[in-house]
Amino acid sequence: MLVKQEFQKLAEGLEGVVAANTILSDVDGAAGRLVIRGFELGQLAGRTRFGEVAHLLLDGFFDDLPEPAGLEAMLGAARVEAFAYVDAIPAGLNAVEAVRALLARIPDGDDLRTAIRLPAGVSVFTAAVARQRKGQMPLPPDPEADHATDMLRMVRGSNPTVDEAAALDTYLVTVCDHGLNASTFAVRVTASTLAGLTSAVLTGISTLKGPLHGGAPGPVVEMLDEIGEASNARAWIERAIDRGERLMGFGHRIYRVRDPRADALKQAVRPLSSNTGRLALAEAVEAAALQILSERKPDRSLQTNVEFYTALLLEALGFEPAEFTCVFAMGRTLGWIAHAREQVCNGRLIRPASVYVGPIPKIAA
Ligand code: ACO
Repeated sequence: MLVKQEFQKLAEGLEGVVAANTILSDVDGAAGRLVIRGFELGQLAGRTRFGEVAHLLLDGFFDDLPEPAGLEAMLGAARVEAFAYVDAIPAGLNAVEAVRALLARIPDGDDLRTAIRLPAGVSVFTAAVARQRKGQMPLPPDPEADHATDMLRMVRGSNPTVDEAAALDTYLVTVCDHGLNASTFAVRVTASTLAGLTSAVLTGISTLKGPLHGGAPGPVVEMLDEIGEASNARAWIERAIDRGERLMGFGHRIYRVRDPRADALKQAVRPLSSNTGRLALAEAVEAAALQILSERKPDRSLQTNVEFYTALLLEALGFEPAEFTCVFAMGRTLGWIAHAREQVCNGRLIRPASVYVGPIPKIAA
């Protein structure tokens, strides 16, 4: 009986449990606010590039961190190095599994070189895997190009427009870090064992791929495709909720108001939408979903999360839904590495306790 009571006292899913002090980011779920190293998301998204935000996140965690321009040059050189690993893309894996398998070829380390090889690797591997899925040969990186421009060129074979590269930068910056989300927590656990940065990032990508975390935007595209027209939205969503399904791109453990990242991405997708009908459909689906969720789940404030407009943005940039989680990982790798370093520099082995609720051994009288 005592054991049972203790079991019930646990915070399910560790909701509300504080497991780290961090200088990296703060998620205020009541105000719908995200702060990254002292900057509001709105001060960074659409205004900084991937290399600049990499510098912001890694600052203080490596004694030999160069200035932002030097870091961008290191990233370019690391993309070239990573390309050597795409000689053997494993067959029979989905996109995120293939990128994870290629990442596992990067030796573990805790130094700046490893820290830069990992985000460079995720982008080069994602581009190579995306091309392989279309039956095309991987394209080598251009170390002189900026990271987002080079990534899109490696996927498509031609240079993106300035708006497209800016939209990818906005996306990567928007998702670079987000408090102690599931993958970042998992990364900190691995880092706390001193396993090394590659192991920590592999833990992160493995955790991110689940549909309740970074795997949601692919199913958002499927939902929009199935709904097809705004007039079908209400009936489709009601049927899904009646079947007990979750609407992908809605709800969040921390946010009780709209996820600020959703608006940053919606703004970034507008200049891209050659297919403005798609954006109009998404807006209609979003409005219907929010209405139905408030009617059906009145006890929980379920709002649009980052994944809904991630789907629209990455689709408009030409990525396939199966590749979306890999692109998410491109941005989030920066946050994972910064958290891993913070854990190693300031933390202790993470080893929580559990309450045993199984059978009690029978002791012979
Ligand atoms: N659609 C329908 N119902 C939902 C949704 C949703 N998207 N999200 C939560 N609910 C319901 C639950 O069914 C539950 O209802 P009940 O009490 O009647 O059973 C209630 O709201 C509370 O749900 P929890 O599971 O306690 O919420 P939790 O904080 O654990 O989950 C999560 C958060 C996983 C994000 C959830 O909202 C969800 O599954 N969303 C859909 C998947 C998604 O969009 N994931 C991406 C999140 S953003 C990110 O990780 C980058």
